[in-house]
Amino acid sequence: MPSVTAGTPQLDHFFSSSAARLDRWRELNARAQTWAAQAKSGKPAGGRAAVEAALVELNALEDFFAYPGPRLMKALAERISSDDALGVGRMVRRISGALLSGSYRYDGGEWEMSDEAVDSPPERQSPTFSGGDSHRPYFETLFVTPAPAASRAKTAGELRRLRRTEDAMVYEPVLVGSVEDALLATILNGKIEAVVIFDGIPVPSQHDVPLLRDLLASRQQLDTTSLAPRDVGVTLARLIKRVRPELDLYLLTDRNVEKIAGDPAAAMFRRVFYEVEELMEVHLNILEGVADRFSTPFFDNLKKYAARPIATFHALPIARGKSIMKSNWIRDMGEFYGQNLFLAESSATTGGLDSMLEPTGNIKVAQEKFARAVGADHVFFVTNGTSTSNKMVYQAVTAPGDIVIADRNCHKSHHYGMVLSGAQPLYVEAFPMTEYSMYGAVPLRTIKQAMLNLKAEGRLDRLKMITLTNCTFDGHVYNTRRVMEECLAIKPDVIFLWDEAWFGFARFSPYLRPRTGLGAAAALEEWRDSPEALKAYEAQVAEIGEEFDPKDARLLKRHLIPDPRKIRIRVYETDSVHKSMSALRQGSIVAVRDEDYNHHASAFREAVFIHASTSPNQQIIASLDLARRQMELEGYELVMRAFEIAFGVRKAIAEHPLISKYFRVLGADAMVPAEYRASGFKDFLTPGTTWMTALKSVQEDEFFLDPTRMTLVCGTAGYDGTAFKGLLAAKYNIQMNKTSRNSVLLQSNINNTRSDVALLIKVLLEISQDIEAQLAEGGENGRAAFAAKVKSLMTDVPDLPNFSRFHDGYRDDPGSVTLEGNMRDAFFAAYEEDDCEYLPLMSPKIDERLKSGPQLVSANFVIPYPPGFPIMVPGQVIEADTIGFMRKLDVKEIHGYNNTRGLKLIKLSAIGKARAGAKARPAPSKRSKS
Ligand SMILES: Cc1ncc(COP(=O)(O)O)c(C=O)c1O
Repeated sequence: MPSVTAGTPQLDHFFSSSAARLDRWRELNARAQTWAAQAKSGKPAGGRAAVEAALVELNALEDFFAYPGPRLMKALAERISSDDALGVGRMVRRISGALLSGSYRYDGGEWEMSDEAVDSPPERQSPTFSGGDSHRPYFETLFVTPAPAASRAKTAGELRRLRRTEDAMVYEPVLVGSVEDALLATILNGKIEAVVIFDGIPVPSQHDVPLLRDLLASRQQLDTTSLAPRDVGVTLARLIKRVRPELDLYLLTDRNVEKIAGDPAAAMFRRVFYEVEELMEVHLNILEGVADRFSTPFFDNLKKYAARPIATFHALPIARGKSIMKSNWIRDMGEFYGQNLFLAESSATTGGLDSMLEPTGNIKVAQEKFARAVGADHVFFVTNGTSTSNKMVYQAVTAPGDIVIADRNCHKSHHYGMVLSGAQPLYVEAFPMTEYSMYGAVPLRTIKQAMLNLKAEGRLDRLKMITLTNCTFDGHVYNTRRVMEECLAIKPDVIFLWDEAWFGFARFSPYLRPRTGLGAAAALEEWRDSPEALKAYEAQVAEIGEEFDPKDARLLKRHLIPDPRKIRIRVYETDSVHKSMSALRQGSIVAVRDEDYNHHASAFREAVFIHASTSPNQQIIASLDLARRQMELEGYELVMRAFEIAFGVRKAIAEHPLISKYFRVLGADAMVPAEYRASGFKDFLTPGTTWMTALKSVQEDEFFLDPTRMTLVCGTAGYDGTAFKGLLAAKYNIQMNKTSRNSVLLQSNINNTRSDVALLIKVLLEISQDIEAQLAEGGENGRAAFAAKVKSLMTDVPDLPNFSRFHDGYRDDPGSVTLEGNMRDAFFAAYEEDDCEYLPLMSPKIDERLKSGPQLVSANFVIPYPPGFPIMVPGQVIEADTIGFMRKLDVKEIHGYNNTRGLKLIKLSAIGKARAGAKARPAPSKRSKS
């Protein structure tokens, strides 16, 4: 958090430690260079004291990292105490350079501490794609040992001696002596890939870390008073897994290993060793565990395939690239993309490749590994984006007549998914953010109300699924666990589809993981198996009964507890891997954690056959495999960096005196109404905000704001979102995400660097300076015109229309309170041009019909960009607010609106026909259990 990083440096930099650490090395380097310069000029002037002060802060952090490690840190301290200012300057420069470039991971010279080595630093190269010197992957292994600190250097030496030339990877040990220090190392050091825990370690840290203690106490994760010594290892393993579930854990004990290994509580250990056994076994296991995450079965085989001399007699002329390399006219295609792209292309599914439609080999294994990485039971690779992933889920789990509660504002693939499957949408509305012409997320109360209405009307059995977007385009993150808990209390087998197109990366942050669909499903399962679950449910029964009355007003107010004996945890999560991880465009997954998946397994296969191309792109599949590898090995660190970048942007804009005059990034207090922020959390930048405050918000609030998504208000600078996005792209080569009337969305991801932040800030400054200059030149009139423009952008904003209703002809029971409808019938009615009519948006006829009828019924989805949600769906009765909104919209791109002919409407006379068809429709699916 910026307000934490900005203050006195301390160890409490959870989840943003890497930038904080490097900043401190930069600071130490600056001070060391100042001291060296002072020494050269013969005027030391306090340089040494400044270096010593900076070093004190670093020392505490450095205990948790292998490089520079205790030896180099000791050597540095000795140079300082011998007043060797020049030597200190050279050494600090070298270490901070090695840390910044990462060269210590492969260049043994960086670890040398002789004067000669320190004084002639190695040449460091910037990373490129060109291959060059390949080196063994490097990682760090944490050893948590009760041995005294004095013997750690000896142990580290012994561990290094286990290395063999044939090892495919190399690791450096990091040794700590307590549970708290082990947790700190896991949190702070993203290079750690494996943890070896020796039995009998003490709990308290040697460092003073109040926030860690608060954190542990607040989650009742570590009760140090009642922890029996023999449980410490298992407890530590459990806590580490909560932070980084992907790490391999090993237990070394001198107790009964066979018994421990058979204890389900020890299941999180990859291996349990008897302490006196060969350390070499531990070493080999550590390497094997990381190699397993490193291995990318599909990509590895694709590389082998590309290297083989293969003659192809199948379609796909570009395979092997001969038609390109020999061409007179398109050789530049080959030069630009490189030969491997063509060597690795094939339409074959054999010979080292696999079939994505029916995987039995390396794609199957790659999918299983992805499932492990995201905590799912199954993962399906999809090579045409989450647009297709979503449709597959609808196709597989819903049938004609089923009801789906869906955020009306959700991505169009959901609406189309329902058209395809024949499920009836029961739209629920997100809270509006009219000021910024965007929607937030759907309040839980609204969802519960929709369910209770269905229950009251006897149609809850038809509710099959609840679909929500997590996080929304603008960064609203649901309290996924609470939503599922309360909805399951009303219908214990309802399915959840969490559209996490934007949020796949969240799995790799301990901070966001609990708010993902899959993270919450895991937590819910754990809760269900605990004795507290039944107790809580029984307490609720005592108060409101078992079969509650859906009209009981208390149900909306209270936190409903489901019956742990009845609930089925049925979660589908779709992720655009390409949006937040290193997959090629369109790489997406469907992740399944559904206890009743067997009901849908064959339907799911059908859904894959219906939607997947029979020519999936090999490179997209390989990139999904690789994206998984990357996230399992460095996702934690990369996501942490994406947070740091986001905080950097927020802070730089807020603190700059000129930029902040015209621009601001909205905090949670502007993006989430106070009623949904019970914790009182306001913004990451609010003075006094600590990680504890933010964590409280993550744990408790109905909606939390994803820190990596930043709504930058540009209306206050006189720009509408579209114009501002255009300006940045055309003039400054900066690309942004979506826009609203008066804002643009900035997004940081695992690809961003601090240089990107610097560029953005420089550009915002330049634009702010231009505005100032124009205002100065334009005189009174210019200033008035600017103020009027800002006012129009910021206050003259159209009201956001809610979903009205489906025409009665598209409703099974027009009298019902709930508004689900047969959208599919309306969709297909529009295929009959004779049954449709067109009216231009500005035509007075529209106003007449709104006033006196006949009703206007939309034939199409009408989706303006921005905001990007359907303001009309097929069969919807169009009302005055929707027309008013559309008329005010000043956007060029409106899908589903015919610019020359106008709005496409279904003639009312045609709706009777649909109704007749509807009567012949088969009864709704009865596959639901309740
Ligand atoms: C919430 C949501 N879901 C699904 C999609 C579709 O994803 P894809 O672009 O991978 O097809 C998008 C695209 O922007 C989206 O915003």
